[in-house]
Amino acid sequence: MNKPDIYQLRRNELAKQIFAKTGGGIAVVSTASEIARNRDSEFPYRHDSDFYYLTGFEEPGATLVMKVDSNGSKHQLQSHLFCRPKDPEREIWDGIRLGPEAAPEVLGIEYAHSNQELDRKLGELLADQDAVYIRLAESAEADRRLRHWMKQVRGQARSGVNSPSEFHDIEALIHEMRLFKDAHEIDIMRRAAAISARAHIRAMQICKPGMREYQLEAELLHEFRNSGAQSVAYNSIVAGGANSCILHYRAGSTELRNGELCLIDAGCELDGYASDITRTFPVNGKFTGPQRALYDITLAAQEAAIAMTKPGNTFMQPHEAALTALTQGLLDEKLLKIADVGSLENAIETGAYRRFYMHRTSHWLGMDVHDVGSYREASLDSSSEDKPWRILKSGMVMTIEPGLYVRPADDVDEKFWNIGIRIEDDVVINNSGCELISRGVPVNADEIEALMKNV
Ligand code: GLY
Ligand code: MN
Ligand code: MN
Repeated sequence: MNKPDIYQLRRNELAKQIFAKTGGGIAVVSTASEIARNRDSEFPYRHDSDFYYLTGFEEPGATLVMKVDSNGSKHQLQSHLFCRPKDPEREIWDGIRLGPEAAPEVLGIEYAHSNQELDRKLGELLADQDAVYIRLAESAEADRRLRHWMKQVRGQARSGVNSPSEFHDIEALIHEMRLFKDAHEIDIMRRAAAISARAHIRAMQICKPGMREYQLEAELLHEFRNSGAQSVAYNSIVAGGANSCILHYRAGSTELRNGELCLIDAGCELDGYASDITRTFPVNGKFTGPQRALYDITLAAQEAAIAMTKPGNTFMQPHEAALTALTQGLLDEKLLKIADVGSLENAIETGAYRRFYMHRTSHWLGMDVHDVGSYREASLDSSSEDKPWRILKSGMVMTIEPGLYVRPADDVDEKFWNIGIRIEDDVVINNSGCELISRGVPVNADEIEALMKNV
């Protein structure tokens, strides 16, 4: 399928849903703004994921407006892209702009206009429409713009023009679509995960005592960019020793010391899609006994979770499998004591494990690292607490990332202090189970040791 066709199909599917819900309406999705970092310098620009999902367009300053009407019993869609106009002077400084003249052909969109036309044109497009699909409560700026558009339509009331009276959350519709990845998306995600796996291998192979965390971060970045990935999918975590127990640690300047572990949670973004891999390895290439014991428990928990990651199971079942394996391991290593917790079931029930494992095992993965899509099944007549957990289906992509984090404490055997371990892989649910797409980097402790030895 040609690239523009993918986006046309997605817009068409969204239009179909809008038609089914309200018989038509206007949908508005803007891309992300550029954000100043400091004087005359901006953060690297990243498009808005929803906008990109529907257009494939990466420039800032753009808005998609979809007009959905009825055509008998079917829907009819007209898409308008508002984008930056060509500007030879600005293009010398900031680079080439696609411009509204070329956009229809390149992007396969019906109409394109200068973004300077957006406010005026939306006043026209909203006339006599009942339903507007927009991001609700997004920002004060977005509210201000919507008020401005509505004011223009309301200003035409005496000429007999009706203004919209229903506002719907467009994200709910787009996010449900984004939860299920098509073949084109899965192909990109496989490649993103393969690049990230190579980056982890590179970091493991180069690591030796005395290096600093930021030096391993540099190796990861080298592999990402050298392989064509445009960016990191999130700030890389490179955490040596006690830092491995800080869940949102960033690569800092801590020295990686002999006998300690290094936890790397890093993934690239390729063509708008994230990968998300964590590996934990010994700085000197050889696990100590206590490190290995906790590593093997974490890996067993991941394997237990993977076995439960299949269509028909709920989103929570892999997490529950991981929890059972982790908690049993904590009991085996006497980090939790039967005398205190009573039983395995009780330790899970009361959340006694949370001291050592305080996050969930999975999240959706896609254009965003913590990707969109509801974790609960839609259910019309129950409150959100009662809605059942999402049933896993083919095309969903998620991470599986159990961990154990042991901080120093009087009642914890000192041999485990400051050991933080997480093992994270990315999986695509398919018709029979799941495909691990990030195992280009070894996960087994013996294989990691062999990899670090053979440099
Ligand atoms: N890297 C973010 C996460 O693992 O959820
Ligand atoms: Mn993750
Ligand atoms: Mn991660």
